[in-house]
Amino acid sequence: MKGLDVIVKELVKVHRTGKIEVQALRGLNMNVKAGELIAIIGPSGSGKTTLLNIIGGLDEATAGTVIVGDLNVTTQTVTQLVDYRRKMVGHIFQTLNLIPTLTAKENIEFAMIASGVPRKLRKERVQELLETVGLADRANHKPEELSGGEQQRIALAAALSNDAPVLLADEPTGELDTTNAKIVVEYLKKVNRELGKTIIMVTHDPTVARVAHRILRIEDGVIKMAQAPSEVIVHEKAVSYVDQLKARIAEINAQLEKLDSDFRSEKLDGDEYTDKRQSLKQLKNSLKEELVRMGVVT
Ligand SMILES: Nc1ncnc2c1ncn2[C@@H]1O[C@H](COP(=O)(O)OP(=O)(O)OP(=O)(O)O)[C@@H](O)[C@H]1O
Ligand SMILES: [Mg+2]
Repeated sequence: MKGLDVIVKELVKVHRTGKIEVQALRGLNMNVKAGELIAIIGPSGSGKTTLLNIIGGLDEATAGTVIVGDLNVTTQTVTQLVDYRRKMVGHIFQTLNLIPTLTAKENIEFAMIASGVPRKLRKERVQELLETVGLADRANHKPEELSGGEQQRIALAAALSNDAPVLLADEPTGELDTTNAKIVVEYLKKVNRELGKTIIMVTHDPTVARVAHRILRIEDGVIKMAQAPSEVIVHEKAVSYVDQLKARIAEINAQLEKLDSDFRSEKLDGDEYTDKRQSLKQLKNSLKEELVRMGVVT
């Protein structure tokens, strides 16, 4: 099945562990078009996995809406979610995608059994999927007999086995070296282009993110900015610019403290103190405004 739109509205997720609450998503909005390949980047703990798991029907939202095609995922019952996952979602995880005792072929077939593909269709489809990921000659290899990149390509084949319109990939290259990461990403691109699947991929690797049509940056449970892939390098500079701004603000804070203590110990007279303090404050405020303009919360 070709890709579908994925619309996320004001999504909130509070994880509760005993008395401790963590707000992982804070009203996140995102519109992904059918057939789009989206990369989601952002710091550790910013809510990326939580977002994918809710879109994938693995986790329940606290508030807000996820709509895939014309189906409201967030109002589905637990039983309906099982069916939703079988038909609508292919999911690739960072690690442990494959069952170690099964061969590549069996792993793909296992995914098909789980999603209820009839037996007679399975054999044929396994072969086709192995070819899609360029591993027809590895059909009888167990995961430990495959490279990390090959394992992720088998995981991709397994995720495609139910022909779902939406593919979710959580750090699909997270454990791979650059060469293998590139190969896996090439296959994801191919699947997006040739099969028209909507792909939402989480990655911390800017070179992986650059293959996407759009890159969304998530910070603290909300989307902070959207970028075109060509802007990524520029953005990397912007990140260091942000760090420079932050470092400058920290410096000014130290200067302000020193100024205060100099004044207290009467090294400065009142006028000089007020002037210097005023100009440092102004500088600090303008740096803070610059940070706000760049989408950084201070
Ligand atoms: N099952 C859970 N129970 C309690 N807290 C959780 C649970 N899952 C995630 N969290 C918390 O929610 C926040 C977001 O976690 P999430 O796994 O979505 O982050 P992430 O962006 O995927 O991070 P990473 O890049 O490290 O994978 C974190 O503070 C995390 O500790
Ligand atoms: Mg994660």
